[in-house]
Amino acid sequence: MNETFLQACRGEKTDYTPVWMMRQAGRYLPEYQKVRGTIPFLELCKHPELCVEVTLQPLRRFAMDAAILFSDILIPIEAMGAELSFHEGQGPIIANPCRDAETVEQLKIADPEQDLPFVQETVRLLRSELDVPLIGFAGAPFTCATYLIEGGSSKFFYETKKLMFTQPGLFHRLMDKISETVIRALKAQAKAGAQALQLFDTWAGILAPCDFEIFALPYVQRIFRKLRDLNVPLIYFANNGATLLDMSARAGAHVIGIDWRTDIGDAIGKAGRLAVQGNLDPLALLLPQEELKERIGRLLGGARDACGHIFNLGHGIHQLTPPDQVRLAVDFVHELSAR
Ligand code: CP3
Repeated sequence: MNETFLQACRGEKTDYTPVWMMRQAGRYLPEYQKVRGTIPFLELCKHPELCVEVTLQPLRRFAMDAAILFSDILIPIEAMGAELSFHEGQGPIIANPCRDAETVEQLKIADPEQDLPFVQETVRLLRSELDVPLIGFAGAPFTCATYLIEGGSSKFFYETKKLMFTQPGLFHRLMDKISETVIRALKAQAKAGAQALQLFDTWAGILAPCDFEIFALPYVQRIFRKLRDLNVPLIYFANNGATLLDMSARAGAHVIGIDWRTDIGDAIGKAGRLAVQGNLDPLALLLPQEELKERIGRLLGGARDACGHIFNLGHGIHQLTPPDQVRLAVDFVHELSAR
């Protein structure tokens, strides 16, 4: 087992800077498209053998130092009672959005053994195949709540903020139920063999810091507190989180994910003794090769004082990214950081 990724998460010295990429399995790979041609996305997520296959696809091509479970943050949300579907080019749709007391009460706290056995099965199968660590994940409660309340993706998050500001008690009740589901889902993944756990807070950055502190952070803190004694590295990624970094560093994670809008050196200053993960602009992978290498060099240089650095993108890989550019980036990180 190559443990470089786990060592960096723990802030230990490593032979080189480990690398993986958010959304490293997905549509930019023709072999993923081929699988998707045979089965809708949501179905795919429920077939362990196929999830194993698409998880492994990027690892066959590139020298990634970690694998991430193939699933989706909305899978546990569906198990709570959301009527979830995915439509080509539209993203997720939830047919019964959650905006009143009755709908919130109807949501159940998911039981991973009963409701998500295919996730744990995927984890178990993957562990027998992998020689790099496997990352499990879930959506952070606020991000999950936006999908539940809006009924899908959103631009202004009108319904989310309306519920938050006009019925804060109900909003907190919803966050409470989601958090409990996330805790159970992540514990089950770790029990099945996940060796690190990441919370994706894709929409944290739409909140004013004062609202993040009241409506989002306490739930992330609760989740990490409940997961601490699993003894696996915990990663918190708040997208668009430059103004939230001080608070993210208090979330209770071991590793802070940094999006590309923040200078890595500044982020390290705020992360204190926590490891950092990030933060190349995903579309910087379109740069001509020499410029891409130069930018990677600057990023590695900026991260030299980190108490652990995991090279990653600042958000998920874009679907039009040429796979050869991914290979170039991964290999160059390894080459330049070898010590
Ligand atoms: O390698 C990996 O990281 C794969 C596992 C993974 C997926 N989604 C698969 C996926 C992970 C970690 C996620 C997380 C996820 N899902 C997030 C947080 C990370 C982020 O990108 O901010 C969010 C917000 C979601 C919800 C979601 N899932 C949306 C909004 C969409 C539609 C937009 C899109 O990119 O298509 C999805 C679909 C989805 N999830 C796909 C994949 C591979 C594409 C589905 C397809 O094949 O058509």
